[in-house]
Amino acid sequence: MSLFWRIFSLNAVGLIAAAALLLGPVTVSTPVLPGEALAVVVGLAALLAANALVLRIGLAPLQRLGRAMATADLLRPGARAPVAGPAETAALITTYNTMLDRLEAERAAGAARALSAQERERHRIARELHDEVGQTLTAVLLQLKRVADRVPVELREEVGQAQEATRAGLDEIRRIARRLRPGVLEELGLPSALRSLAAEFTTHGLTVRHHVPGDLPRLTEESELVVYRIAQEGLTNTARHAAADRAEVRLSPVTGGVELLVRDDGKGLGGAPEGSGISGMRERALLIGAALSLEPAPGRGTDIRLRIPAATAEPR
Ligand SMILES: Nc1ncnc2c1ncn2[C@@H]1O[C@H](COP(=O)(O)OP(=O)(O)OP(=O)(O)O)[C@@H](O)[C@H]1O
Ligand SMILES: [Mg+2]
Repeated sequence: MSLFWRIFSLNAVGLIAAAALLLGPVTVSTPVLPGEALAVVVGLAALLAANALVLRIGLAPLQRLGRAMATADLLRPGARAPVAGPAETAALITTYNTMLDRLEAERAAGAARALSAQERERHRIARELHDEVGQTLTAVLLQLKRVADRVPVELREEVGQAQEATRAGLDEIRRIARRLRPGVLEELGLPSALRSLAAEFTTHGLTVRHHVPGDLPRLTEESELVVYRIAQEGLTNTARHAAADRAEVRLSPVTGGVELLVRDDGKGLGGAPEGSGISGMRERALLIGAALSLEPAPGRGTDIRLRIPAATAEPR
């Protein structure tokens, strides 16, 4: 029954009963006698209580809908308000849930487009850095080497320094290009890419271990890129924020798929608000239908888990 008819019929019943009583056996004298006043007050209280009850029951689903709207997050999809209550409320909740379905689908499609455009752009920049700037610096290095053999002794040291600076610039450019485009992922596969990621983040303050068993179910190219980028952002955050001594990157088979774990023994997430790094991880996870969780690690530190379902994992 609709909320309108519930309230209207309750009020109608109360008013009709009061009118019938006044027309029939009941009289209210002036001034009112104590017995009559008591009957009126009790009747009124009963009517008000019934009214309050009907409204409370009728409006509760709207309150639940309000809470669901306030906490809706497109990066954590799937939560829906339960459809309940009077007809209009149930229809409103159903419409809201359908709207969320549409928004989540649009968001996922938009994120997929944005992320693939971002990957293409990274590829392009990495190639230009490598092919243009890298080649130019290599040519400069060769020229400097030829010059070094012929310059007078007093200039040798300066030419040597220029050679060193050029070599350092070349290394830096190769490193940036590698970060932009994980060529190792395409050439040598995910295990090697994760190994080199662990090596890249191992510095004097931080030791990063990796555990990647050989007999994992094969992932799609897209899933491998998502795993790699999430591990990369996880380790970047460990290096930047965690103040950790140790970290690990682990890929393991689990029922129904593969799980990536990035764990550090740092200070933990605390209540830090999520930035574009973590929301980027969530978006990438959504792209391949994987579940991402960020939780305190046992003891101290942070655990990032990415569970990639078997649907996107092809058997080897
Ligand atoms: N492993 C970690 N240990 C401790 N704190 C962390 C860790 N990872 C993230 N944080 C906290 O969570 C916040 C949000 O991380 P997020 O990656 O979203 O943004 P960011 O790293 O600050 O910036 P960016 O957009 O460049 O990634 C960080 O500022 C940091 O305070
Ligand atoms: Mg970050």
